[in-house]
Amino acid sequence: MTRIAVLVSGGGTNLQALIDAQKSGIIKSGEIVLVISSQPTAYALERAKNAGIDSAVANKKELGSHEAFEAKIRGLLDEYKIDLIVLAGFMSILSEDFTKAYPKRILNVHPSLIPSFCGAGFYGLRVHEAALSYGVKVTGATVHFVNEIPDGGEIVMQKAVCVKDGDTPEILQRRVMEEAEWKILPEAVEKVSYEIKTQKEV
Ligand code: GAR
Repeated sequence: MTRIAVLVSGGGTNLQALIDAQKSGIIKSGEIVLVISSQPTAYALERAKNAGIDSAVANKKELGSHEAFEAKIRGLLDEYKIDLIVLAGFMSILSEDFTKAYPKRILNVHPSLIPSFCGAGFYGLRVHEAALSYGVKVTGATVHFVNEIPDGGEIVMQKAVCVKDGDTPEILQRRVMEEAEWKILPEAVEKVSYEIKTQKEV
């Protein structure tokens, strides 16, 4: 089994999609063994608790620096012998030092069709605001490996979603989550978990 840690910062609907996919058997080559939140009040922590998954908080403000923040996360990943890290609404950019330590072992879900509306400054609702103000008629979501370039790693899966007349950023965000993120994130996690599991068995 591939041991998975999910890193979150907020509501955790993508975490919930992963938990549900594990229950329904869509994710069968991996197991979520740890949730790490960058925010002590994130609702995602409740979701982890309800699912009986261990959780921890790594908060940059409390820890005093980005280095201490990443050191805490790396300590937890070592302690839980994590094979695959999934960023699911994780609102911090990881350093090159960090991403280089886990090549092709970090997945991220981003709420647009990369390379549109991505990179530093494009996160959460801002992505959908930018898509609407540009006037695109199709947007979507992307799951990609994480490297030292924000949103620049190899793409694993993408799904397109239509923009409709009268969409607000909130309405569009919800549609992108329902039609794309909550589907492709579990599928991509299973795909990569299977590959890692197979490598571990050799
Ligand atoms: C999701 O839409 C996710 O794709 C996005 O934040 C939201 C988190 O929601 N992530 C980014 O923008 C990262 N650049 P959730 O906490 O309910 O999963």
